[in-house]
Amino acid sequence: MNLRYEDKSKLVQKVFNKVYDKYDLMNDIMSLGTHRIWKKNLVSWINPTPSSKILDVASGTGDIAKLCSNNTNNNCSITCVEPNEKMLDEGKKKLKDLNNLKWVLSSAEHLPFKNDAFDYYTISFGIRNVTNLDKSLSEAYRVLKNGGRFFCLEFSKPQNELLKNMYKNYSKLIPTIGKFVAGSKMPYDYLIESIDKFYNQEEFSKKLIDTGFINVEHRNLTNGIAAIHTGWKIE
Ligand SMILES: C[S@@+](CC[C@H](N)C(=O)[O-])C[C@H]1O[C@@H](n2cnc3c(N)ncnc32)[C@H](O)[C@@H]1O
Repeated sequence: MNLRYEDKSKLVQKVFNKVYDKYDLMNDIMSLGTHRIWKKNLVSWINPTPSSKILDVASGTGDIAKLCSNNTNNNCSITCVEPNEKMLDEGKKKLKDLNNLKWVLSSAEHLPFKNDAFDYYTISFGIRNVTNLDKSLSEAYRVLKNGGRFFCLEFSKPQNELLKNMYKNYSKLIPTIGKFVAGSKMPYDYLIESIDKFYNQEEFSKKLIDTGFINVEHRNLTNGIAAIHTGWKIE
């Protein structure tokens, strides 16, 4: 998908404008509920405390914000950043009872926050969608406090040949399921292609190291179908 910046940004907006009201349902169907386990894994690794200041970028309908909030009895502070107004509104509606959440309409490439502001930066199934990955990572680094930690949950590369083939065959069904449940095939063609084109575990780790993060490591989930990457800002 060698798209120009503005083309990718428009395409991604179009994708989420089409699926926003079926997004949660489709996640459950396509991943057979597994995305919930992966997200719980992410939040248990972060292990936020009531004093944590968390920035959740590409927050979508707010799953990560909700889990982080639950982990601290709704005491930590979470800022959700999302460029798609419809996805943001779904999240706001879904989590209207949580008053430790703030919602900001913006993108990963342009975070409207001062330097050294957050303890944690999280991005879940969002980094693959950004238009400018290097700029997004350097913005993540900028807004983290010294001693702050970056966490990314994203689709990655299965580590076992048998699973790789099974997953490849299953992926071919997803656009048809999308058409049936969400009424449109296009967003799910994009989903499969964007997963296929994204970096593998080692390549993404290198991106984080090149940005300046240290002690970069990752954990594979479901044999690498997804992975959590983390790194620290220590200056
Ligand atoms: C697959 S959803 C993930 C939502 C949520 N984090 C989750 O795990 O369920 C990807 C989100 O990334 C958002 N997005 C797309 N381009 C972005 C960008 N440049 N910066 C930040 N978010 C972006 C989309 O609007 C969408 O809500």
